[in-house]
Amino acid sequence: MPEHPDFATSQARHMMQCWSAQAGYAPIPVASTDGCWIETTDGRRIFDLRSAHECINLGFRHPRVLDALKAQMESVVYVTDDFATEPTGRLAQRLAELAPGPAGKRVYFAQSGAAAVEAAIKAARQYQYNRMFHEGGLAHADAPGQYPYPYKIISRYKSWHGSTATAASVSGDPRRWFQEPLTVPGVVFAPEANAFRPPFGTPETFVEENLRYLDHIIENEGGSNKVAAVIVEAVVGSNGIIPPPPGSLEGIRELCDRWGLLMIVDETMSGMGRTGRLFAIEHTSVVPDIIVLGKALGASCPLTAAIFSEKVAASFEHHIFGHGQSYSGHALASAGALAALDVLLEDGFLESVRAKGRHLEGKLRELASRHRCVGDVRGLGLFYTMELVATPDGQEPLRKTTEKYSRTVVKEAAEYLLAEKNIYVPTDKFGIWVVPPLIVTEAEIDWFCEGIDDALTLVDRRLAGG
Ligand SMILES: Cc1ncc(COP(=O)(O)O)c(C=O)c1O
Repeated sequence: MPEHPDFATSQARHMMQCWSAQAGYAPIPVASTDGCWIETTDGRRIFDLRSAHECINLGFRHPRVLDALKAQMESVVYVTDDFATEPTGRLAQRLAELAPGPAGKRVYFAQSGAAAVEAAIKAARQYQYNRMFHEGGLAHADAPGQYPYPYKIISRYKSWHGSTATAASVSGDPRRWFQEPLTVPGVVFAPEANAFRPPFGTPETFVEENLRYLDHIIENEGGSNKVAAVIVEAVVGSNGIIPPPPGSLEGIRELCDRWGLLMIVDETMSGMGRTGRLFAIEHTSVVPDIIVLGKALGASCPLTAAIFSEKVAASFEHHIFGHGQSYSGHALASAGALAALDVLLEDGFLESVRAKGRHLEGKLRELASRHRCVGDVRGLGLFYTMELVATPDGQEPLRKTTEKYSRTVVKEAAEYLLAEKNIYVPTDKFGIWVVPPLIVTEAEIDWFCEGIDDALTLVDRRLAGG
């Protein structure tokens, strides 16, 4: 294959790249992918330390997933949901049984995280409508009846739930600003629970203070009569890889129960073994009302899901679920997902993710101890980050939220890692993103940490004015 094949020129010229001005689009031409690696047409082997937008938890082209896809292609690829197919039926059942809570759940399948989030939010609002009007559930019949059923969604500032209108509207991430002022009505933002940068309180008190403030928000937004649901990421992803501080998600669950709200837990990025458990929420005692899965669910095919608890599913037994789209429950994608689930749940697999995660954390903490630019190391399983800071005391972030699209030394570090070390990480984050495929070896972890060491030396030098 020529070094710069035509297709790369075509893609650069005619494909819209996400979240970018198009003039500088220069995609790297790929010859093949395998495991954690991308091989380019000019013979480079690049390690994908972002797992292809966290979609390939089992690496590229896992043999068991490929075999399942090939076999499935011989029979059914897609039929509408008026028909049943073996992989779709089995996948729905397995997810219903594996997700926390009683097994009478139902699963809605979509093709993007955003679409599954849209489904979750619509379902939450329709659930509250059904509760109010069909089940005589008016929480306070004497309450002012401006808008007749609970519709508000409470999200958190440090969050990303996708780029379609509703998903972006419930995202605290600055990418929401592209949607403004035409965000969907009825969304309220609460502060996030982040021990490293608590918006208020101290590292000792912030969880409790956050919960008290969330309670205050719910009450002042109209409580049970007005608020439908709270949506949270199990582990905050794009906005900082922030594992839930102990008690924070449990506290939200308690508030939801007290006020009659649904709790939607978005595991698009953190699910499917990424944190060393199949569902990230399994690190807590929380049983969500709706779980959103995406990205790695389809093991590289576009397949996402909103898993409705038995309670939510029951609401739609005799009332219409007012949502849908083509390709829902895609048989081929479901076959790949089932094969991936089998691998993830095999004896020892998730345990090995946790063990490799501990090894990774040790390496990252050692790097942090030698580099002044690292303010915080945090994560869970194989879902880690090193937040970079402008001052050694960590008080000054490298980049303010309002500076998301400005060039920072993080971008320079990411470019250096790609050009000099053949390690691919996102360029637009708050620090170094360390999210390898779950099949990574300890030797590969040691290898990419050496590359990161050199990148951090570069950042230290830049911050010292060099
Ligand atoms: C937590 C979370 N939810 C939803 C989404 C949206 O997923 P998609 O890009 O597949 O629409 C993302 C994407 O990064 C995400 O991280």
